[in-house]
Amino acid sequence: MFVCLCHGITDTQIENIVRAEGVGNMRELKNALGVGSQCGSCINMAQNIIDTTIMDY
Ligand code: FES
Repeated sequence: MFVCLCHGITDTQIENIVRAEGVGNMRELKNALGVGSQCGSCINMAQNIIDTTIMDY
């Protein structure tokens, strides 16, 4: 499922980068994948995915 349409980023890509590279917040995710750096409408959903992925560790 696409989370960030501006950058074509999916929930799976976000989960993978949280697990593989330790991305833990929106600032780091923005730097890594660009998520949230354009229209910003994906920020809440992306933050939820970061949080739930970290809780799944
Ligand atoms: Fe992510 Fe626009 S949908 S910045």
